[in-house]
Amino acid sequence: MDARIVLLGAPGSGKGTQAKRLCEELDLTLISTGDLLRQAVRDNTALGAEAKGYMDAGKLVPDELVIGLINEKLKGLRGGFLLDGFPRNLEQAKMLDTVTGVDIAVELDVDEDMIVDRIAKRRSCRQCGEVYHLAAKPSKVEGVCDKCSGELYQRTDDSEETVRERLRVYHERTEPLTGLYGERGVLIKVDGRGSIDEVYRRIVDAIRGFKR
Ligand code: AP5
Repeated sequence: MDARIVLLGAPGSGKGTQAKRLCEELDLTLISTGDLLRQAVRDNTALGAEAKGYMDAGKLVPDELVIGLINEKLKGLRGGFLLDGFPRNLEQAKMLDTVTGVDIAVELDVDEDMIVDRIAKRRSCRQCGEVYHLAAKPSKVEGVCDKCSGELYQRTDDSEETVRERLRVYHERTEPLTGLYGERGVLIKVDGRGSIDEVYRRIVDAIRGFKR
C-alpha cells in the first residue's frame, strides 16, 4: 500500500499494537518515535541520555531532537509509511508538511478508564520491545518474551503519576491535531474499544474505504 498514514490516540489507546500489525499486513514502513527513543535510551546514545528525563516525567521530548530523528527516517523512504507517535504537536505537524503529505490520519478513540487498565497491565520486552497485556495479550510464559525470551518489564513512564501527566500533555498538545487533519478532510476516527482483532479490522476497513 502506498498511503502515508499518521496514527493518533491517547497514551495506551493501542497505537503501537495496531501500528505493528498494520505495517506487517499492509506493507507499510513503520516509524514509531516512542520505540526509536526507547531504543536510544537502551543503547545509551547521546539522544537517549537527553530524551530519558523528559520521557520519565511524561513530557514531550524537545522538537529539535525528535524532528532530527524523523527527518533521518523519512529521507529516501520509498512506498507507504505509518507514523506512530509523530506528529505530537502543531509544530511537528508543520515540519512534517515541509517533508511529505499525509493521506490519512487515524485517531484511535478510547475512554480514560480503558486507558488506565491497558497501561496498568502492559508489559514490554526489555530486549526487543515487543508489547504484551496481562489479560488481552499475555506471553506464553509469565514474565518472558515469546519472541526473544527477554525479560518483560513495566515501562518507567507507566506509573500512575506519569500517566496522568502524559494524558494532560496529550489533551493539551496532541489532541489539537485532530482539528488540523479534520479540516483537511483526512481524519478518520476509529472506535478503539473491543479486542485487538476487532479494532484492527475497524482500522483496515476504514483505511480501505477512505475516500477524500
Ligand atoms: P509513545 O511510546 O509514543 O507513548 P504513548 O503515545 O504515550 O503511547 P503508548 O506507547 O503508551 O501506548 P500505545 O497507544 O502505543 O498503546 P499500546 O499499543 O502499547 O511515547 C513515549 C514517550 O516518548 C512520550 O511520553 C514522549 O516523552 C516521547 N515521545 C514519543 N514521541 C514523541 C514526539 N513525537 N515528540 C516528543 N516526544 C515524543 O497498548 C497499550 C496496552 O494495551 C498494551 O499492553 C497492549 O497489549 C494493550 N492493548 C492494545 N490494544 C488493546 C485492545 N484492543 N484490547 C485490550 N488491550 C489492548
